[in-house]
Amino acid sequence: MNTSDLLQRPRRLRISPGVRAMVRETRVTAADLIYPIFVTHEPDVARPIESMPGIHQLSINRAVGEAGEAAGLGIPAVLLFGIPSTKDAFGSESYALDGVIQRAIREIKQQLPDLVVVTDVCLCGYTDHGHCGLLNGSSAELTKDGYSEGYVLNDETLEVLAKIAVSHAQAGADIVAPSGMIDGMVGAIRAGLDGAGLERVAILSYAIKYASAFYGPFREAAEGAPKHGDRRSHQMDPANTREALREAAFDVEEGADILMVKPALPYLDVIQQTRTQFPELPLAAYNVSGEYAMVKAAAANRWLDERSTVTEVLTAIKRAGADLIITYHAKEFATWLRS
Ligand code: PBG
Repeated sequence: MNTSDLLQRPRRLRISPGVRAMVRETRVTAADLIYPIFVTHEPDVARPIESMPGIHQLSINRAVGEAGEAAGLGIPAVLLFGIPSTKDAFGSESYALDGVIQRAIREIKQQLPDLVVVTDVCLCGYTDHGHCGLLNGSSAELTKDGYSEGYVLNDETLEVLAKIAVSHAQAGADIVAPSGMIDGMVGAIRAGLDGAGLERVAILSYAIKYASAFYGPFREAAEGAPKHGDRRSHQMDPANTREALREAAFDVEEGADILMVKPALPYLDVIQQTRTQFPELPLAAYNVSGEYAMVKAAAANRWLDERSTVTEVLTAIKRAGADLIITYHAKEFATWLRS
């Protein structure tokens, strides 16, 4: 064959940065990102999280500063996680008026009224046993009677989740994000919010959350590791996708405003299928702590170029169908976009 007979030459559209930019199908902008922040009661500290370089547990004043920096970079929203001063079997600080998150929300909304505040609604950071709900027995009983895994009670936990969501919304949260994979959590929270006159507050549901090994660093950051057992009685088996669509369908029926798939990178197929099956709802994906830690560790060793790796990761997540990406890289990425 004579080479001049070639009719299809896709390389023509890759010939220069200008042409490549013209045909680029997916672009991640700062407006797509949500930045997670870990807040502690302790005054004026920034305690580094070893497994998440660049991320800290922050006192409330510093969390406000961090949120302000994110906003200044064009990031529209932060996602707050709290480290309580005391933990008990019932996770009581999670819905306390002067709980760490409630205080942080009030402070952030006062200083940065236009920044969207999203809050994680779960018990795991607040219970002394580290589980995402109330257990069928006190934590003391659990160790001596052989109930070593303690089952997370479902309907009893729903009442607490609704209380937490209402307390966050009353403090000023714009969006609440239940993350515990408790059956009926979206419906219970919607009813709780509406009953309290908070129908304006949206629910971003961690609709499809897998029992993932990639949450390891987060559990150091939020001090929320289960003291015994694991989360496989409520989080999903990484092997399943049909079940994922079922989970999402229930959350849509119960009134979720935004769906989420978590983690992101190992579940791009799930993101894509969720996007296709539920085209009418915004879809978020959580680029979790372990995904962040992998990139940071490889970059620190100069095994990967951080900027191009992060750009590729976030682009892939958006290309798969996510409208919003929760990522610890948010501030860095937004900074690179400006340079
Ligand atoms: C709480 C919660 C977890 C994460 C977000 N909310 C931990 C877990 O379920 O064990 C993980 C986030 C991350 O790894 O970045 N239920």
